[in-house]
Amino acid sequence: MKVLVTRRLPSRVIARLEERFDVDLHDGDVLPPDELRERVREAHGLICVLTDRIDGGVIDAAPQLKIIAAVAVGYDNIDVVHARSRGIVVTNTPDVLTGAVAEFTWGLILSVTRRITEGDRLVRAGGWKRWGLDFMLGAELSGKQLGILGMGRIGRAVAARAPAFGMTVAYHRGHHETRLKPGATAGGGTSLQARPVSFDELLVTSDVISIHTPLTPESRHIIDQRALARMKRTAYLINTSRGPVVDEAALAWAMRERLIAGAALDVYEKEPMVHPDLPGFDNVILAPHLGSATRETRTAMADLAVSNVLAVLGGQPPLTPV
Ligand code: DGY
Repeated sequence: MKVLVTRRLPSRVIARLEERFDVDLHDGDVLPPDELRERVREAHGLICVLTDRIDGGVIDAAPQLKIIAAVAVGYDNIDVVHARSRGIVVTNTPDVLTGAVAEFTWGLILSVTRRITEGDRLVRAGGWKRWGLDFMLGAELSGKQLGILGMGRIGRAVAARAPAFGMTVAYHRGHHETRLKPGATAGGGTSLQARPVSFDELLVTSDVISIHTPLTPESRHIIDQRALARMKRTAYLINTSRGPVVDEAALAWAMRERLIAGAALDVYEKEPMVHPDLPGFDNVILAPHLGSATRETRTAMADLAVSNVLAVLGGQPPLTPV
């Protein structure tokens, strides 16, 4: 059987596939759609990344396809409904990246509230003159409220780290999420103290809002002009989920109008493009989609995708179906 892999994976992980299958490994940048359709034609398994658009055309070009294994937890780039209608299993890589994304989210929270990247730019540009009592003051986290939008695995892991910074947690979950049971653990055995609130209360009362919802028709542009206008003027917005959850033009407007204190984004509406106004704001951090980008986690993600392919093409149930 043949497996198409659209991006180089760690060699140890590829070796697991090569033991069992004829592997067609694309070793370059994003496969152009025509070439993707051509190369998937003979494939029984497809391992893809979030920059590959796996639409109905790609799926229909592959009559023998049994599994689409995403090396990502988000799968909004895959037409899952169409795949299911063809009996194709779709899998993702939950859990293995939760800790890495949570750590990165806290990195963004600390960087934007304490102006770390802004200060770094200033020093590099030779703009730092001397220490000053009121120089580059930021906002303290202790005693403030962290608002989590989307209380799935990653949202809970971010929330679980909040007590270390003296923050309380409120959350709002999308309608697709299963209810977080009171006292549920948030990983590492930590008991999570978090208050469920309405979307509006989350906006109005939070000092930092961190987005962890998947991209769905309901969550697209959920952070729009109206939502931004409801936030505290002293609040910060963090997005490590999917870019289109935030209306970037509305965010640029809110920054211009000083409606919020700052924002830190790891994801964008049209990656790798960024709304042209956003780089102009010192209080906006722009990261290049690095949430899960640790050596350990990316290897674990690739490993899990390969395990899913080995299972399904070996006649077993998938480990992590979407
Ligand atoms: C995911 O897994 O969905 C991430 O965005 C990739 O790093």
